[in-house]
Amino acid sequence: MARKVIIAGNWKMNNTAPEGSALVEALKPLVAGIDAADIVVCPPFTTLNAVVETACNSNIKVGAQNLHWAESGAFTGEISAAMLKEAGATYVIIGHSERRQYFGETDATVNQRLRAALCSGLIPIVCVGETLEEREGERTDNVLSMQLSGGLAGITASEMADIIIAYEPIWAIGTGKTATPEMAEDTHCFIRGRLIEMFGADLAEKVRIQYGGSMKPENAAELLAQPNIDGGLIGGASLKAASFAALIKNAIG
Ligand code: 13P
Repeated sequence: MARKVIIAGNWKMNNTAPEGSALVEALKPLVAGIDAADIVVCPPFTTLNAVVETACNSNIKVGAQNLHWAESGAFTGEISAAMLKEAGATYVIIGHSERRQYFGETDATVNQRLRAALCSGLIPIVCVGETLEEREGERTDNVLSMQLSGGLAGITASEMADIIIAYEPIWAIGTGKTATPEMAEDTHCFIRGRLIEMFGADLAEKVRIQYGGSMKPENAAELLAQPNIDGGLIGGASLKAASFAALIKNAIG
């Protein structure tokens, strides 16, 4: 089953509007003409407008890093799906481990955000992943199962067709420690197995599962060579145009 590779850069809390525009301006010629992968950058909210404008008429799509589930209201500091759409975002990351770790994100709030994204037509990238302690305690499968069943609760198979899953082992994020390709593939297989149970094989075979955690130009090819790894969610290596472009090229081979 051919699934189109998707490489997304999660800039996290980096890059002002001029910095983000400059990064995308530099990236554009380096990835021009690449259509074997969906290419996405996810800047901070305040940088979205500028990056959308710079990415206009290129093959680079723009995503946000979070959204609130309500349409509007008294939610100080939050951003709605409509606001993201207005800024020109087409993707949104939901449930990143840093949001779970530092901002109280739970599987229940992931589910609420996911519904809001789907209702508005934003393409959700739903993040799951285990801590080092959970992996060492052999609880990875349990943790991922709970994150998937809670985060995707009530989602229909046709909605699932529009959702991207990102598997990010927390111990590999920003640490330079990457899961070996075999270890990542094993876990991606487990995730797809759960999706088969939840949504049926036909649908689950179509879902793209990204790997994230210290993915770099040097390890992208071997990770993407695994049959169930369909892309990457990239932090550090997406902050420089040259490394992000090299990673994309190595990922698609
Ligand atoms: P790094 O690529 O910096 O490890 O970050 C991964 C990540 O958290 C992407 O969402």
